[in-house]
Amino acid sequence: MKPKPSSSITLLPFIFLIFLPSLVSSQACKKSCGNQPIRYPFGTGPGCGDPRFQKYVTCNEQKLTITTHTGSYPIDTIDYNNQVLNIQDPSMSTCSSTQPSKGFGLDWDAPFTFLDDNIFALLDCSTSSSPLYKSKNLSNGGNGSTVPLCDNDGAPLCSLLYSCPSISTLSLPISTCCVYAPVDLGPAFEMDLEKLQCSSYASVYSFNGQESNPERWKYGVALKYKFSLKNDYPSVCSICERSKGLCGYTGTYNAFVCNCASGINTTTDCSFAASWSNSLRLVPRQIGTSLICSSAWFLVWILL
Ligand SMILES: *[C@@H]1O[C@H](CO)[C@@H](O)[C@H](O)[C@H]1NC(C)=O
Ligand SMILES: *[C@@H]1O[C@H](CO)[C@@H](O)[C@H](O)[C@H]1NC(C)=O
Ligand SMILES: *[C@@H]1O[C@H](CO)[C@@H](O)[C@H](O)[C@H]1NC(C)=O
Repeated sequence: MKPKPSSSITLLPFIFLIFLPSLVSSQACKKSCGNQPIRYPFGTGPGCGDPRFQKYVTCNEQKLTITTHTGSYPIDTIDYNNQVLNIQDPSMSTCSSTQPSKGFGLDWDAPFTFLDDNIFALLDCSTSSSPLYKSKNLSNGGNGSTVPLCDNDGAPLCSLLYSCPSISTLSLPISTCCVYAPVDLGPAFEMDLEKLQCSSYASVYSFNGQESNPERWKYGVALKYKFSLKNDYPSVCSICERSKGLCGYTGTYNAFVCNCASGINTTTDCSFAASWSNSLRLVPRQIGTSLICSSAWFLVWILL
C-alpha cells in the first residue's frame, strides 16, 4: 500500500467535522435557495413543495430558476403575500442594453399567469411584414392602410424607451415599437418574436414611481402563481410551517409530508419531531439517523 501524503491525513478529521452535521440532520427540503427563502408551493427538490410547481421551479447550484418551453429564467424575488414571482430574461432588452430575443412564453398548463402590471414593448418590429401591423387590415374598411394591433396608449412608453442610450443608437423609427398587453398574448401566453417579426423586447413590471425615467424602471416579467382553482393555502401546510417545518408531497399518491429540521418527516407538524430530538430518545424514526451517525464515526475511526 502506498502511504498517503501526511497533509491529507491530518486534514481528514477536519473534513469529517465539516460534513458530519449534514449527515446527521439531513432535512430533505431546504429553507432557502441561495439567499431566496423557499416556502410552499415552491420546493428545493423532489418531494418538496407542491408537485405541480416542481417541474417549473428548481433550485440549481443555489440559483432558483423557472423553466418554460422558451427557456430557463432566474427568479429575482418571490412575493409570498401577493403570490408574485419576478423573473429575469437574459435575452430581454432594458434601458441599458439591447439584444436580440426570440421572445418569451409560458407553458399552457403551468400554474402561472402574467401579472397585469407587465408591459411588454416589442422593439424593432417590421412595419411592413409583422402581423402586428396587418391583422386589422379588414376591419378598417379595406382601404389598404394598416392599423397596428399595438396599444395606442403605449406611444409615450415607446418614445421614452427609444430615448434610452442603448436603443437610441440604433435610430429606429418609433413606429417599430409596439406595446403589447398580456391580454393579447393568447391562451398559450406566447410571445414569439420571430413570428411577430420584432428583433427584441423589453418588459417593465414597475415604473418604480418614476414614469418618465426609463433608467429607473424595473425590467423583468412578473408572474402570478396559483395554488389551486380556489387558491386556498392548504391548512396542513400552514400548520407544518408554523412549527418550522417545510411542506412537501411525496410518493405515488402525492401524500402530504411535513419535513422537519431534524430530518424527520411527519404527517402533521414538527412539534413531536422537535421534542424527540431534544430528549435524544431512540424512537424508531431516528434509528436511520443514528445509523448514519455511527457509520460516519466508524469511517473516521478507520481512516485515522
Ligand atoms: C422526507 O420527505 C422528503 C420530501 O418529501 C423525501 O424526499 C424524503 O425521502 C423523506 N425522508 C424520509 C426519511 O422519509
Ligand atoms: C389588406 O388589405 C388589402 C386591400 O384591401 C388587401 O389587398 C390585402 O390582401 C389585405 N392583407 C391582409 C393580410 O389581409
Ligand atoms: C383608411 O381608413 C382609416 C381608418 O378609417 C383612415 O384613418 C385613413 O385615412 C384611410 N386611408 C386612406 C388612404 O384612405
